[in-house]
Amino acid sequence: MSVINLKVNGRTHILDVDPTAPLLYILRNDLTLNGPRFGCGLGQCGACTVIIEGEAIRSCITPVATVEGFQITTLEGLGTAVNPHPIQKAFIDQQAAGCGYCMNGMMITAKAFLDQNPKATQAQIIEALDANLCRCATHIRVLKAVQQYQQEVAA
Ligand code: FES
Ligand code: FES
Repeated sequence: MSVINLKVNGRTHILDVDPTAPLLYILRNDLTLNGPRFGCGLGQCGACTVIIEGEAIRSCITPVATVEGFQITTLEGLGTAVNPHPIQKAFIDQQAAGCGYCMNGMMITAKAFLDQNPKATQAQIIEALDANLCRCATHIRVLKAVQQYQQEVAA
């Protein structure tokens, strides 16, 4: 075990944890931040994505010690049910979710991408989200939601 200084959603946490543990486990089990989901655990589905220093990162394959001191944002850091972030509101407006399991990864990945590429084309948005898997086949509604967010806020 090691003492790790983790900055999540604007708060600093001093944690005594296994430094090799996946960031996802620490977020969910130690900090009870359940926005990031466990899907594949292999970096292949995107359900666990968080934003680290502006980049969409798969937390299931990220050892917690490697992100000590970095600014980490989870879905909880964007908005709340009462006061959703515009990207969360767009996903609600477009009723983008099926079961909802992949939605964390979709929203987090789209936000990080559009923060860096506010004028992205539809083809570029599709490419950016291509590695986020959805078994409910919500892709068309997800795309509409992301484009709504882009028009309202990002562009
Ligand atoms: S749970 Fe991390 S990519 Fe699937
Ligand atoms: S909404 Fe069910 S996996 Fe995407």
